[in-house]
Amino acid sequence: MNWLSNIFQVTGLLFVIAGGASAGSLPEDWRDWKPVNTPLAEIGALPGCDADVSSLPPIYQRTVATYCNVRPEGPGAVAVLISGPAMSAYMARTGNFPDGSQTALHLKDMGILMVTTYEQGKPVYQVFSEKGEDITGVEGPLAAGTCSACHADAAVCVNGQCGTMK
Ligand code: HEC
Repeated sequence: MNWLSNIFQVTGLLFVIAGGASAGSLPEDWRDWKPVNTPLAEIGALPGCDADVSSLPPIYQRTVATYCNVRPEGPGAVAVLISGPAMSAYMARTGNFPDGSQTALHLKDMGILMVTTYEQGKPVYQVFSEKGEDITGVEGPLAAGTCSACHADAAVCVNGQCGTMK
């Protein structure tokens, strides 16, 4: 083994560690993604834990229950953002998203984005600060496993897409 293959091995290892389970980084153009009107976008915010959400569909009640205490007053204002290349798939609800980071639930008051990225056609979930720091949790409300457990609800979600354009 020569020094060159050593370097390749070391950098390869670092890449695996740094890459971990994460799908990628927040696209720099996320501010150009299009906000869409959905049931949640129309409500405008995720409320705090003492809000009466009994009139909402069950998956929305579960979403509020999962996220109402990430901030004492609730997560606050939200927007649903869709990338240009994903818009037709989102509108059609076919689940046929192009690979890459395509949809975001923007928690505007908290300055974070919940992002769905498609890898070989399958959804991967991550959370980013607006500056692009990966803040996906290992457990709890911001963990990828929490996202996928809910987004796998086949009664509502299609290949990771839970919302519907209104
Ligand atoms: C308990 C259920 C639940 C959990 C947990 C959850 N979501 Fe969602 N998510 C929803 C629902 C419902 C919508 C659709 C809201 C709307 O637009 O009306 C949604 C919307 C989204 C969207 C917009 C595109 C779409 O699917 O409609 C993204 C992106 C997203 N979530 C990512 C995430 C990520 C990342 C996590 C984990 C950090 C997460 N979600 C956790 C229920 C959940």
